Amino acid sequence: MYTRLLLMLASLLPCAAAAHACSVVPDTMRAARIHAPGGPEALRVERVPTPTLGAGDVLVRVHYASINPVDWKLQEAGRLPFPATPGGDFAGEVVAVAPGVTTFACGDRVAGIVDPRERSGSYAEYVAAPVAALVPAPPAFTLQEAAAYPTVAVAAWRYLVGAADVRPGERVLVHGGAGGVGSMVVQLAKARGAQVIATASARNHDYLRALGADDVIDYRSVRFEDVVRDVDIVVDTVGGDTLARSPDVLRDGGRLVTLVGQAPAAVCTQGRIVCPATPPWDVQAGLNGVAPLIAAGQLRVHVDGLYPLAQIVQAQQHNRAGSTRGKVVVAIAADNVASASGDDVAAVRLPLQAYLDGHATGQRRHFQRAFADDAVLLGFKDGRYRRWPARDYIDASSSGRVPADEAKRTRHVRQITVTGDVATAVIELDYPDMKALDHMTLLRQGDAWKIVVKAYHAWTPGTAEGAAAVR
Ligand SMILES: NC(=O)c1ccc[n+]([C@@H]2O[C@H](COP(=O)([O-])OP(=O)(O)OC[C@H]3O[C@@H](n4cnc5c(N)ncnc54)[C@H](OP(=O)(O)O)[C@@H]3O)[C@@H](O)[C@H]2O)c1
Repeated sequence: MYTRLLLMLASLLPCAAAAHACSVVPDTMRAARIHAPGGPEALRVERVPTPTLGAGDVLVRVHYASINPVDWKLQEAGRLPFPATPGGDFAGEVVAVAPGVTTFACGDRVAGIVDPRERSGSYAEYVAAPVAALVPAPPAFTLQEAAAYPTVAVAAWRYLVGAADVRPGERVLVHGGAGGVGSMVVQLAKARGAQVIATASARNHDYLRALGADDVIDYRSVRFEDVVRDVDIVVDTVGGDTLARSPDVLRDGGRLVTLVGQAPAAVCTQGRIVCPATPPWDVQAGLNGVAPLIAAGQLRVHVDGLYPLAQIVQAQQHNRAGSTRGKVVVAIAADNVASASGDDVAAVRLPLQAYLDGHATGQRRHFQRAFADDAVLLGFKDGRYRRWPARDYIDASSSGRVPADEAKRTRHVRQITVTGDVATAVIELDYPDMKALDHMTLLRQGDAWKIVVKAYHAWTPGTAEGAAAVR
């Protein structure tokens, strides 16, 4: 039986004879594609070959991808190998590793960045990524959050720490504080002991204060140079006129870093202020640099919009409009879909993923996103039946802590079926000390789906009950 499974894997996975695959990987996948230079509206979801693994690669089943401005900038500038699959950021689960790869193993939850100029991008069900482009998904993040943070965290680290070398007590002005990169820079600067002033439109001021900004400036009604003076560092994520006016607010010897274009050559060479060199793009340095802050709860990522892959055009348009607060995320994994349209399956996955994220992080907010207010649980465990309201289950499950054996736990959505406004799903939980099959019933409520009944059969591995459950 096991040999037959391996043979089946070998026939399904390109180069599987050499690679170690741990799940059935189909030879084609859904991906957002672009055939010629163009903006968001030029994207189409198509079926394409699943990427093959090169030396040192890992195949990741993408649960979520996120949008960065560089995605649509590369598309519009024609700097992709058309036809191309755009996208850099992703988070998901390792499903195969190339020979000799020991850093990651099947089942690991990972986050990373691929370069769509060189390989198939992240707006796809699978991505083949080099190990240097991957890190373990931060346990304190959901996979949705893990897909949102890579590029903006690497950029924040690169410019604020690598280039500007921020020090405790320094005053930092962050232009575009509410955007993807700006949100990270504000939090990173605070975590490193700086005093932070951020520019944003008024609607983002409470958000920025919650991230830790000491002062906020509404750039639409106030010229920042009229209210700020003598800062130690300017981090500019806006460019243009904002960048051109920035040298005036720096103290003598202050540092100007910009993510958009170049600091004005004349002011950099005059010597009054410093325009530090930008260190190379380094995914490992950036993501490992911020990892302790994420673990300590000092670095969060806000998801401004969540779209299924079928709505990739709308997802990119959201970011392209220029007023994203935090990040825009795309839900991709659809598991073993029995019957449904892509849109519905992706929408049903959102509460299912929230439920799984609740298990992974012990955070109440995830469970609350998953369940309807009056949902019930019907379960069979330890030889007895039990019925309890979901709110009691949420109270019992919300420790707020990542389980100690989290790395050894796996959770899979095995099946989703959508019939009209009712969906059913099967979820498998595989823990060292417990296994369970959850049968979920979900109802469409307005625009969203919610779990209304969770019927489960849970057992301890190795017991007679467990043996019966797997037969
Ligand atoms: N060189 C690199 O390594 C690197 C890496 C990553 C990103 N980037 C670049 O950095 C830039 C920012 O990226 P991002 O991901 O942060 O973009 P983003 O999330 O799309 O930025 C959107 C934010 O910009 C704010 N904004 C727009 N105009 C503003 C202004 N005049 N003053 C202050 N805030 C303004 C908006 O705030 P309001 O809604 O409040 O207006 C919004 O929150 C992009 O050009 C990107 O390509 C470069």
